[in-house]
Amino acid sequence: MFVLRKRARELERDLAAALEALEDARRLAAQEEVAFRALKASADRDRADLTARLGDLAYLEQVCAELVMERDNLDASCNELALQRNALEGRCKDLETKLDALAVRPAPRETEGMSPENLSADVIRSDASGESLNDWWNRAHERDHQYWLTGSDGAEVWERLGVRSRLSQGVRVLNIGVGLGQDTRQLAAMGCEVHALDISPVALDRVRGLAVTHLASDLDRLPRDCFDVAMSHLVAQHMLDFDLLAQMKAVLLSLTSSGVFAIQFATGAAAALEQTSLQAKGGSIHRTPEQMERLVAQAGGLVALSEPREQFPEHRAGWHVMHVVRP
Ligand SMILES: C[S@@+](CC[C@H](N)C(=O)[O-])C[C@H]1O[C@@H](n2cnc3c(N)ncnc32)[C@H](O)[C@@H]1O
Repeated sequence: MFVLRKRARELERDLAAALEALEDARRLAAQEEVAFRALKASADRDRADLTARLGDLAYLEQVCAELVMERDNLDASCNELALQRNALEGRCKDLETKLDALAVRPAPRETEGMSPENLSADVIRSDASGESLNDWWNRAHERDHQYWLTGSDGAEVWERLGVRSRLSQGVRVLNIGVGLGQDTRQLAAMGCEVHALDISPVALDRVRGLAVTHLASDLDRLPRDCFDVAMSHLVAQHMLDFDLLAQMKAVLLSLTSSGVFAIQFATGAAAALEQTSLQAKGGSIHRTPEQMERLVAQAGGLVALSEPREQFPEHRAGWHVMHVVRP
C-alpha cells in the first residue's frame, strides 16, 4: 500500500513535470507562431514589392522597345532626308550650271574699233612690237575682245563639226579654244564632262569650275585614253603647223579608242603662203585638205571624215571639217 502510494506520488510528480513541459512547449510554439506570422507577413510584403517592381520593369522594357523603334524610324527618316538633300544639291548644281549657260552675259567690253582696218592695225601693231602669241591671246581675253574671241553658240559649233549626235550627259569632251566660253558652258549644262584647252590662262579662268582646264604649253599633261570627243573650232586658223602638229599628237593620245577629234580649219588662197605669226594672230592661216591630211598622218592619226563647210568667195576662203581618229 505504502509502495503504491509512493508510486502514485511519483507518477503525480512526473505528470506535473510533463504538464509543465507541455505548457512550456505550448508557450514556445505560440511564440514561434507569432514569429512565423511576422516573417510571413514580411515575406508577403517583399513579394508584393517585388511583383510591383517586376511590373515597373516590364513597363520600362516596353518603353525602351518603343524608344528603340522610334530611334530606328528617326534613323531611316534621317537617311531618307540625307538622300533627298543630296538629290536636291545635285539638282541645284545642274540648275546653276544651266542658269549660268542661259544667263544673259554682259556684252563683251571691246565692241568698238572693229572695222577691218582697225582689226588689221591691231594685229600689225602687235606683230611689230614682237608680242608673242601667248601675250596676244592673253590681251584679247583681258579685253573680252568680241572679234578675236568669237564666243560661238554651242549648237552651231557641234552641228558644223558633225559631233552633235555624240554629245550627251556623261560624255567626256575636250574643247580646244575657249573663246568667250559660251560653248564650254553649254557642254557643261548638257552634263558632259568637259575639259578645256587654251593657250591663254586668262581664257581658262572663264571656265574654271565648269571644265577641267589645260594650258596649251602643258600638252603632255592631257589625260590618256580619256575623251570621247575633242573639238577645235576657229582655232586651227590661228595656229602654225608646228603647234598644230604637237597639239594633234597629244589630242590623239588623249582620245579613247572610239573617240574622235573634230577639227575645223580654214581653206583658201593663203594655203600657198608661208605661215607667219601675223597670220596666226589674225586667224588667216589657210590649209588645203591635203596639207591637213599630211599633218594628220605625221601625228599618227587617220582621217575618218573630210568635208567642206561654208565658203566665203569674197574672202577667197572657206571652212573645212575633218574627223581625226586613232588608227
Ligand atoms: C577665235 S577663238 C574661238 C573660240 C571658240 N572655239 C569659238 O568657236 O567661239 C580662238 C580661241 O583659241 C585659243 N587659242 C589660240 N591659240 C591656241 C592654241 N595654240 N592652243 C589652244 N588654244 C588656242 C584662244 O585663246 C581663243 O580662246
